[in-house]
Amino acid sequence: MLDIEERLTLDERSSVDFVLSLRKRWSDTIYPALVEEFVATGADPATAGDADTALHDLPLYPWFSHLERVQQKMLWKIAGDAVIARREELLGQLEQAPAGPEGSLRLDPDLVLPDWYTDYDIHVQPGGVFSDDLSAYVYEFGARIVMLRDNDGYKFHQLFVTTALPELPEATRVVDLGCGFGKSTRPLKLRYPTAEVIGIDLAAPNLRLAHAESADAGIEVSYRQADARSTGLDADSCDVVTGTMLLHEMPASVIEETIAEAARIVKPGGTVAFLEFQPTGEALRDVTVVEHAERNNEPFFHDLFGSDLVALCARYGLTDARWTPFDERLEGMRPQGWGHRPEWHFPWAVLTATRPAEEN
Ligand SMILES: C[S@@+](CC[C@H](N)C(=O)[O-])C[C@H]1O[C@@H](n2cnc3c(N)ncnc32)[C@H](O)[C@@H]1O
Repeated sequence: MLDIEERLTLDERSSVDFVLSLRKRWSDTIYPALVEEFVATGADPATAGDADTALHDLPLYPWFSHLERVQQKMLWKIAGDAVIARREELLGQLEQAPAGPEGSLRLDPDLVLPDWYTDYDIHVQPGGVFSDDLSAYVYEFGARIVMLRDNDGYKFHQLFVTTALPELPEATRVVDLGCGFGKSTRPLKLRYPTAEVIGIDLAAPNLRLAHAESADAGIEVSYRQADARSTGLDADSCDVVTGTMLLHEMPASVIEETIAEAARIVKPGGTVAFLEFQPTGEALRDVTVVEHAERNNEPFFHDLFGSDLVALCARYGLTDARWTPFDERLEGMRPQGWGHRPEWHFPWAVLTATRPAEEN
């Protein structure tokens, strides 16, 4: 399949490099300078609200926040233009994707997308990921820059799959909720080759691209359009239920319904795992993460930080629920904590829980 990156014109490549560099400097130079200003004030905020007030008073703050928003808009403009310029070829390769034997695609034309999902241009991506087939390509291209190119080759997702999920040589079914364009799903098939791997998402464009790319790579995945809250899968049918970067996009009530659905479909003895974000306890960092979400049109992010997911898991019969810090660069799961990192980065964390095995 055509990877746009390989065919960028010199002008396009320059624009991508510019935004990527801007993003890196924002993270590794401007954020540490902001922290330095914060430390120099001697502020020791007791609450997130206090930290927020202290942050807003810093001289660098307007520059920091402006750059964050502007670079995000720039990246969608560059990605959108690059995709639209290759429109026919990109749409054509979705049509050519084989319907089998390498996996399958099942769309639901009757599925009504919820308002909380369609009302916002998530991540500031114009039209979100659901409105046009090309939007999945735009999202794929943009996501590489958002992750500073460190997740090319799906490194973070592979680390999640290999360090957060159990070894199950005989797994029969594994489900990825909110699978996007399959970045999180394909590594699951490599980890669980014996299993039927199912990727579920609300966005048809994402699923079309996921199917085409998985088929092209010879990785067998069944992609289905459905709501993570009501997958249509049988109760007790999955060895592992996962979601990566899904819950922070949902209102609190939807997070709860999704956990309930995961608990319903997982087999007794099976595992539920979500790769998400959690507060680190470092006041300034945590406030900038919440503000990042606001600037990035992720209106429900604070619902994730405000929800007690460990308690929710218990409510739906899952045990051993816990959050574990996750280092996306190195070792993945990091029970000893996040450790010190000077640059701005996502506070990755994994929620794991198990369904108790049935008593004989
Ligand atoms: C940030 S993307 C993450 C995609 C992928 N898991 C990854 O790690 O790259 C979130 C995805 O969740 C999907 N999504 C959001 N709410 C959903 C829901 N209720 N049911 C199914 N998918 C949902 C979105 O369409 C989007 O593709």
